[in-house]
Amino acid sequence: MAEDLQIIQGTKEKVYKSLLPQIQAILAGEPDLIANLANITAALKEQFNWLWIGFYLVKKTINGSDEELVLGPFQGPIACTRIKKGRGVCGTSWQQAQTLIVPDVEKFPGHIGCSSLSKSEIVLPIICNGNVVGVLDIDSDALHTFDEVDKLYLEKVIDMINVE
Ligand code: SME
Repeated sequence: MAEDLQIIQGTKEKVYKSLLPQIQAILAGEPDLIANLANITAALKEQFNWLWIGFYLVKKTINGSDEELVLGPFQGPIACTRIKKGRGVCGTSWQQAQTLIVPDVEKFPGHIGCSSLSKSEIVLPIICNGNVVGVLDIDSDALHTFDEVDKLYLEKVIDMINVE
């Protein structure tokens, strides 16, 4: 890889259809998970300029007795480092192994506000061999930013990630 990302204007579908093959090309032949997650966040930030885009990965707690989400590669303001299962949007997505679209974060019970600017959010689980191994979390500074189109295409991005 070497070329700049091609950024386009248009409908969400048009934008995702342009972006996804580019992300696929960036990931091709690169086995390093952190490098790939970092480039995915950068590509999404460049194209959409959402407030915060990042990964949390399921890892051991500091005392090693349990698991929790730990902050991974991201673009945007500093964020909470560790999130417990079932807590916030991320921990709920992990617990339910489901994508969650939150049109208004203030209406999501237990939402963890890492930035006061965040107004809406989407969280997608990364599932490997039936287990959630992490989540992709995206925050917007506008209400009602994410819908089923984002879910569809962002799940395709998740499918490109080789976590093994
Ligand atoms: N809002 C998330 C926490 C992570 S930050 O948005 C980066 C949540 O409720 O899980």
